[in-house]
Formats: sequence, C-alpha cells, structure tokens
Amino acid sequence: MLTVRAPATSANLGSGFDVFGVALETPADVVRVERARETTISVTGAGSEFIPEDPEGNTVGAVAKALDAPARIEIDKGVRPASGLGSSASSAAAAAVALNELYDRGHSRKELVPIAAEGEALVSGEAHSDNVAPSLLGGFTIVTDDGVTQVDTSVPLVACLPETAVSTRDARGVVPDEAALDDVVSTVGNAATLAVGMTRNDPELVGRGMDDDIVTPQRTALIDGYDDVREAALEAGATGVTVSGAGPGILAVCDRSSRRAVAGAMIDAFDDNDIESRAYQTQVGSGATLYRD
Ligand code: HSE
Repeated sequence: MLTVRAPATSANLGSGFDVFGVALETPADVVRVERARETTISVTGAGSEFIPEDPEGNTVGAVAKALDAPARIEIDKGVRPASGLGSSASSAAAAAVALNELYDRGHSRKELVPIAAEGEALVSGEAHSDNVAPSLLGGFTIVTDDGVTQVDTSVPLVACLPETAVSTRDARGVVPDEAALDDVVSTVGNAATLAVGMTRNDPELVGRGMDDDIVTPQRTALIDGYDDVREAALEAGATGVTVSGAGPGILAVCDRSSRRAVAGAMIDAFDDNDIESRAYQTQVGSGATLYRD
C-alpha cells in the first residue's frame, strides 16, 4: 500500500485568477492506494458525507481513469469540500502521485498537473490547474497555457474558513466575461508585485499585490461577513486579504509575528456576523509527499 499526503491550496491570491496558487503547510488530505481489478473509493474525514464514492463522480476516480490505474483507494479528508482551500485538488494530487508510483507510470510532477486537473472538471466544470499545481509541486505556482512555473517560498498565511459553503460552480458563474482596460492594467501591476514578493519571501509585497478589481468583488458578495473579516484582519496586521480560491475561505498574508492576532481577529469578525469559523495559522509549504507502508 502507498500513502500520499497532499496539501490544501489557495488559488488566485486575488490578482492571479486561474493562474496563481500556493500550497499550504496545513491542512492536507491523505490518500492510500493498492492495486485492484476495478477502482473503488472510500472517503472519511472532513465533509466526507458530501463526497461521492462512485468513481464516476469522484475527482480521484477521474485521475485513476486518466492514468489507467485501477485501485482500491482510501481518502482521508483533512481539507473540507467547498471551503476555498482546493479540497478536490488535494485528493486529486495525492491520488495522481500515488497511482503514478503504484503503476510505475514514470510521469514527472509537472506532467501530473494536467492529469490531476481532470478531476477538477468534475467539480467546477473546467479543468483549471491552479490548485492541483501547488498541491503537487509545493510553493507558489504560476499556471499558464505553456506550463507551470514554481517558486519555493515560506510566506506566512492565515486561512479562515467559515462554516458556510460556496460551490465552485456558483463562484465561477459570477465571474465577468469582460473587463475594463483600467482594471486589467491595475490587476497586472498587482500580480507582478505579488510574484516578486513571493520570490523575495516578502509578506509586505505579496499583500500589496493581492487586490484585483475584476473577479474578487463579484465573489465577495457570496461570502457573508467578508468586508468585516477583511477589515479586522488588516487592522490586526495583515498586509493583504482576499478570497481563497472560489471561497468562502478568506486568506490573509502577514508577518509571522502577527499570525495569531490576525487569526483571532478574523474569527471574531465572523462571530460578530453570527458565523462560526476556524482559522489555520500556516505558511506556504511543500507539495505532495509519498510514504511507503
Ligand atoms: N481558480 C479557481 C476559481 C479556483 O477561482 O474558480 C477554485 O478553487
């Protein structure tokens, strides 16, 4: 049996819609696989009751099919579905690494990105790779049509998850078809600033580059309490705040010394809106890790 731990991720980072992503040190999914004639899937852990075990409807089933690698697959969810932390991508990335090894397929981590993304199409309707790339490769990733660029970094983060859910399909439904040139110009500037901040491990620059005027404003309307939580995080020392992936999770960047205060402020602000939440005090971390039993 092979075991793979694949991290949660936060995609977009505001200015990099469908392009930027980071691996989070915590939480993570754990997937165990062994060879079988037909693929079977069992799911336990956070939100497992909402995840189909039928391989035809499960992201991991899509990965097994793409790799022609039938297996008995156990998924232990640490990443809650519909949270904005790339839950389906964590499972898909873990399964891709495990099944690639189990059947000796010989794909590199970068070659596994489009394979793991097959599963994303089942969840969101589109095979976007900005969650599976960091879950497979770790660090900060930039996904374009030409491939993936990866940077190792350890920028401190707080990911705050309210006990509400937003489906990725719904969140993609509010993304505008067009954007004004002014908004594109400011978003490109912010994205470039953020990318430089990641390479310099500089939370100040990363935070400054997180804003975008195109996608995020449409999505914050789907997250009760967003404005209050953002303001509270900034007052507590966050250098930038945005929607994590498709939401409803909210991601803050800050100095290591401010993480606890930022996490507390975000939880309190959700609480003031009668919404329970939990916060992960984390940082950009490594990608999927393989263990042999
Ligand atoms: N880039 C995707 C989106 C990530 O924002 O819809 C979903 O987690």
